[in-house]
Amino acid sequence: MNLIQSIFVLIAVLMSKSGAEKVMYAQVGDTVTFTAPEKNSSLKYYIYWNFDGEGRSTQLAWLNHLGGKRIIPNEPWQISLSFSTDSLTITNIQEENFGTFVFKLTVDDVVVTTTKYELVKLNVSMTPDSPLLPGDILSLACIVSQKKPTIEWFNPKGEVKKKGGTISMTATNQDNGQWTCVVTDDKQTHNTSINVKVVDLSPAPLHQYTSTYSPLTVLCSIPSDISWKQIKEKDIQEVQWHFLPEPSSKLISDDQQRLFSLSLEDPLTWKADQNRDLSPVPDLAKGNLSLTRNRGKEDDRGSYMCTLKFKNDVTLRRTVHVEVLQIISSPKELISGQRVNLSCTTSGPLPSDVHFKWFPPEKSSLQRSSHHPAHLTIPEVSAGDGGRWRCELWQKDILLTWAMTVLKIEPKLSVWMLVIICSAAVILILLLILTFILCRRRQQRTRHLRPRLCRCKNPKPKGFYRT
Ligand SMILES: *[C@@H]1O[C@H](CO)[C@@H](O)[C@H](O)[C@H]1NC(C)=O
Ligand SMILES: *[C@@H]1O[C@H](CO)[C@@H](O)[C@H](O)[C@H]1NC(C)=O
Repeated sequence: MNLIQSIFVLIAVLMSKSGAEKVMYAQVGDTVTFTAPEKNSSLKYYIYWNFDGEGRSTQLAWLNHLGGKRIIPNEPWQISLSFSTDSLTITNIQEENFGTFVFKLTVDDVVVTTTKYELVKLNVSMTPDSPLLPGDILSLACIVSQKKPTIEWFNPKGEVKKKGGTISMTATNQDNGQWTCVVTDDKQTHNTSINVKVVDLSPAPLHQYTSTYSPLTVLCSIPSDISWKQIKEKDIQEVQWHFLPEPSSKLISDDQQRLFSLSLEDPLTWKADQNRDLSPVPDLAKGNLSLTRNRGKEDDRGSYMCTLKFKNDVTLRRTVHVEVLQIISSPKELISGQRVNLSCTTSGPLPSDVHFKWFPPEKSSLQRSSHHPAHLTIPEVSAGDGGRWRCELWQKDILLTWAMTVLKIEPKLSVWMLVIICSAAVILILLLILTFILCRRRQQRTRHLRPRLCRCKNPKPKGFYRT
C-alpha cells in the first residue's frame, strides 16, 4: 500500500458513516431499491451486500472497482435481485425478504462504510373489496410489523382522515379515489395508496341546452371503470328515466312521466314508456344511459332524472335540467319603421358565465358589435332587417346551442292596405257613376213630362172648336 493510497483510506475511514441505518417499508409484491452511499471511485474498493435475518448473515452480492460483480446463488434471492455500484433492487418482495440488508464498502480489506437498511413489512388492505355502494361500511387498514412508526390515512382530497393504522367509515361518493397511508419514521415517510371505488353516476353538467335547430342529449352514464357485471353484483333493482316538465306545479307529482326503464336481464334492453321521441344511445353496454334526439322541441324544457335503484333503498340519481333556446320578436308582425325587440332566451335563468352571439342578416341596420346582449332593440326596422337572425349560446368557448328566426318586414303600405284602398276607391267611383246615372235619368224623365204638363196648364185646343 503506497502512502497516497493510505492517506485516502484514512480520510475515507474518517468520513465513513459506519452503522448508519435506514428503514424502508414495503408490501409483499412490491419492488424496493436501496441507494448505496456515495463513494470515492478512485479507490480500489469492494462492495458487499449482505442480508441479516433469522440470526445469520447471508452474502447476496459483491462488486469491485475493476468491474467484477456477482450475485451469490442463494435461494430465494437470486431471482429477485439486481444491483449496480449505486443501488440494490429487490423485485416482487416475498415474506422471507423482510429483514436487514447491509451495504459494506472495503478498501484494501479495511471496512470503510457500513450502511444498514431495514426492510419492514407493511400491509395495506381494504374490506370489502371495491366497488362499494354509498352507505356500505368501508374499512381500511395500514399495519406495520415490528416498528412503531406514525401512521396516518389521507383521503382522496389529501386531507388527514385518521391518525392510526385502521379506519372504518360509511362510504360516500366523496370517498371514491386514492386513499394514502403515510408511515413516518425518523423524518422518513413512506406512502402507500389504495384505490377505493364507490359506485356512482359520472359527473355531468346540471344544465343541457337545446333548440329546434340543434340536437338534444341528456347525459347519464356509469363511470368506465365500473362494469355492468359489478353493478349487477351490487343487487341492482331498477334503472329508469323520468321527466318532469317545467314550469310545473310541484304539488302535482303526477306530472312526472316515466320515459324508459331498463330490463336488467341479458341482454340489457331499454323499454320505452312515454319516450317523447327520445332514443337511448347505442353504447348501453359500455354504461352510457344517455338519451338523444336529433332536434330539440319547445316542450323539452324540464328535468330529466336518471335513477339507479339498488337493494336496501340505495339510490343513485342524476337530474339534468334541459333548457330550450329560442328567439322571440315583439311585436310579431313587423311593419317597417316600427320599434322591434328581439330576445334570445331559454325562458329560465342562465348561469352567469354564458353569453350570446347575434348574427343579424347582412343588410341589417343593426351594426355587428362585440357586445351581444340577450335582448336587442331595433329602433326602426327596415327592409334590410328582414331575413335570418341567428343567436348562439356560448359557455366560455363552447357553443352550447343556437336558435334562428326569420323576420318578415312588411312595407308601410302593405298589399292588403293597397287592396283595401283600391277597393274603396273603386266603390267610390262606382257610387259616383251610379249617382250620375240616376241624376241623368231623372232629368230625362222631367223633360218628357214637361210638355204634357204644359198642355194641361195652357190648353191650346187645336181642333176642338173648329167648325
Ligand atoms: C354517451 O353518449 C353521448 C351521445 O352519443 C355522448 O355525447 C357521451 O359523451 C357519451 N358518454 C360517455 C361517458 O361515453
Ligand atoms: C321593447 O323593450 C322596451 C324595453 O326594453 C320596452 O319599453 C318596449 O315596450 C318593448 N317594445 C315592445 C314592442 O315590446
